[in-house]
This record gives sequence, C-alpha cells and structure tokens, in this order.
Amino acid sequence: AILQQSKLARMGSMISMIAHQWRQPLSELSGVLMELELATKFKKVNEQHILNSIERSNEMIEFMSNTIDDFRNFYKPDKKKENFLISDACTKALHIVDATLHNLSIDLVFNIKQDKLIFGYPNEYSQVVLNIISNATDILVERKIEKPKIEITITAKGLQSIVTIKDNANGIDEKNIESIFDPYYSTKDSSKGTGLGLYISKLIIERNMGGELSVENDADGAVFKIIVIG
Ligand SMILES: Nc1ncnc2c1ncn2[C@@H]1O[C@H](COP(=O)(O)OP(=O)(O)OP(=O)(O)O)[C@@H](O)[C@H]1O
Ligand SMILES: [Mg+2]
Repeated sequence: AILQQSKLARMGSMISMIAHQWRQPLSELSGVLMELELATKFKKVNEQHILNSIERSNEMIEFMSNTIDDFRNFYKPDKKKENFLISDACTKALHIVDATLHNLSIDLVFNIKQDKLIFGYPNEYSQVVLNIISNATDILVERKIEKPKIEITITAKGLQSIVTIKDNANGIDEKNIESIFDPYYSTKDSSKGTGLGLYISKLIIERNMGGELSVENDADGAVFKIIVIG
C-alpha cells in the first residue's frame, strides 16, 4: 500500500510539472491561431503566412511533446545524459517566448561571452530558462515597467558554465527572497501562478544536474544565476 501511495504521489507531481511547463507553449500556440484567424477575417493570408503559422505551431507541439518525456523520466536515476551547448538550450527556451516578448515590447538582450559544452539534460535546462524568463515577463507586466528589459548572459569560469538572467522590474521583495524557491510559494493570484516554477527549476539544476540556482537583487531588478558543471 505504501509503495502504491508513493507511486501515486510521484504521478501527481509529474502531472503538475507537465501542466506547469505546458502553459507557455500552449498560450503561444493559441496566439498563433488567433493571429491566423484575424488575418483570415481581414483576407490577409497567403500561402507563406499559413506555412509559417504551421511551422510555429509544430514547434510548440514538439516542445510540449518533449515536455511529457522530460517529466516522465524526471525521477529516473539512470536516464540518459547528452552533450549540449548551453547557448542552444537557452535559444530553445527563447524561441518559445520570443513572440510574447515582442508583443509586450520587452527588450531582450542575449550575450554569449563564453559558451560551454555540458553533459546533462538539455531539455530540462531549457525548461529552467523558460521558467525564469516567464517570471521576469510576468513581473515586468505586473509592475508596468516603462522600458522593460531582460538580459541573458552566458559566461564560463573553469569547468563552470554560468548563465545570468536579469530583468529591470525592481527586484524581489527582500523579505520574500528566501522563500521563492519553495513549492507553492507565489505572490500571484491563483489563476496566474501556482508557485511551482522556481521549485521545479531548482530540482532540475541542483538535484538532477548537480549545479546551483541562486538569485539576488541588483540596482535594476532580480538576477538569477544558473551554474552547471561541464
Ligand atoms: N524576476 C522576478 N522579480 C521579482 N519577483 C520574482 C521574479 N521571479 C520570481 N519572483 C517571485 O517569486 C515567486 C515564485 O516564482 P515561481 O515561478 O516559483 O512561481 P509563480 O511564477 O508565482 O507561479 P508559477 O511559476 O507556478 O506559475 C513569484 O510569485 C514572484 O513573487
Ligand atoms: Mg513562475
């Protein structure tokens, strides 16, 4: 019975994680269809337009399908690691959100100073970057920041790959900064946030990849730092 219980608990947490990570691509997919509908109504579609929409939709569907695999294998100790470039994993995450960032006029700066080949889980790594960018986007909108900006920088130090993701939304409340990685800790209302994003991200980086995920505030806003070892 205890075995059964822990199996069910795992299943529950797997489903919660998949649901959480489906939100962004799902909303992006719905955006593509909405745009296509509008363009059709105003008779502004041509073949290329449709083909582009199909390609974009397929990308989102593929990401969502990979997400199922990522989290189905999440707790497996013997899952296969792969070599991947940190910049590729970041680019993949950016691809999911770039239309949204564009629509919200959020300025995105992507600096690759020193890239690194890492042996680990590229998709899981992308999910982390996606979560941090989604949070930055949410807070930039919530606080109505005037010139919203997200800056991603890839550097390296010895064996470490260091990625920082920084926004200009005025930072995390100092009294909350210890809690933000806790499961179900959220300052958003329940329709907008469950408080799972940073908890999942921490599990991926620290438990699954032996790295470190941390945060601090600087003069402009929050700075998240992802360290993994190659
Ligand atoms: N860039 C940021 N600037 C300021 N506060 C942030 C930032 N990123 C996260 N936070 C704070 O940390 C909290 C926890 O983030 P987390 O991603 O775990 O959950 P959430 O975004 O609230 O909900 P979910 O990710 O489940 O939709 C947020 O509610 C927010 O208060
Ligand atoms: Mg979040």
